[in-house]
Amino acid sequence: MEDAFHWYPGHMAKAKRAILGDIRLIDVIIELLDSRAPLATQNPDIAALSNGKKRVVVLNKSDLASKDGNVSWVEYYRENGLNAAGVNLKSKEGLRSVRALLSEAAAEKHKRDLKRGIKQKRPVRALVCGIPNVGKSTFINAMAGKNVVKTGNKPGVTKGKQWITVSKEIELLDSPGLLWPKIEDKKTALYLALIGSMNDEAINTDILIEKLTELMKERYPEILEEKYGAEKEEGVGEILIKAAVRYNMLKKGGEPDLKRAADNMLDDFRSGRLGRITLEFP
Ligand code: G4P
Repeated sequence: MEDAFHWYPGHMAKAKRAILGDIRLIDVIIELLDSRAPLATQNPDIAALSNGKKRVVVLNKSDLASKDGNVSWVEYYRENGLNAAGVNLKSKEGLRSVRALLSEAAAEKHKRDLKRGIKQKRPVRALVCGIPNVGKSTFINAMAGKNVVKTGNKPGVTKGKQWITVSKEIELLDSPGLLWPKIEDKKTALYLALIGSMNDEAINTDILIEKLTELMKERYPEILEEKYGAEKEEGVGEILIKAAVRYNMLKKGGEPDLKRAADNMLDDFRSGRLGRITLEFP
């Protein structure tokens, strides 16, 4: 995982040049987002960078996000004129829908080619892109299956861009396009930090836990009740004490260890052990 925190202008300019170069080679951009926070994990510049190329939005890590959240995000992107599909790359759920969207793109391309007098069916070429940690490498590996390309300096193997054959209709560039997170407001920074896409020290754990608990009180009170025995009227402080007791994280003398409990709660959220939690809704 690249360190999302060190995005200085030089890095951004380099990433931008790299992605612009790749975009020239492809027909379709596969934009990977995190289902728990799609807007926070989306770089808004992609619309301009894509330069009219077809975009397919893939909402990954659907296993960590709530089912109703997943449905509403796919609808949101479709209503905004983009092709979208939710996937869980851990179980490979949803990959078939992505393949179907790419096949559609291939058919459209063939039609365009025919109009230009090109009869031969050529595969669509796609680039996977996204900010760090959204699952780009996992996606490429899952799509590649056994067709992983052999790169390297072997004689006869050309250096440079390598294409993975996904099917007769689809080819994927083997290295993803790295986009930089665009942190324009506090909410975006908070969501990126919560899902672990920003350096841990960027926002204090106490603040992360406070915001996560507030959000859960509003959207997922049943999880707080089930996991920690939290009651409706209880505040963040009281809930954290209950969490420490449930986790059996007590200091000498029996006092709840709130720091350890907060770290543990954050880990449980990130790994999905806390439940399926969507942070932002359309
Ligand atoms: P990147 O190239 O965009 O930076 O992301 P990468 O594929 O490295 O994936 C980042 C992390 O997200 C990995 O976990 C990966 O396993 C996990 N991941 C990818 N897709 C999914 C998904 O659909 N669901 C869940 N729950 N996790 C997913 P890691 O902790 O870095 O490594 P590991 O746990 O696989 O060892």
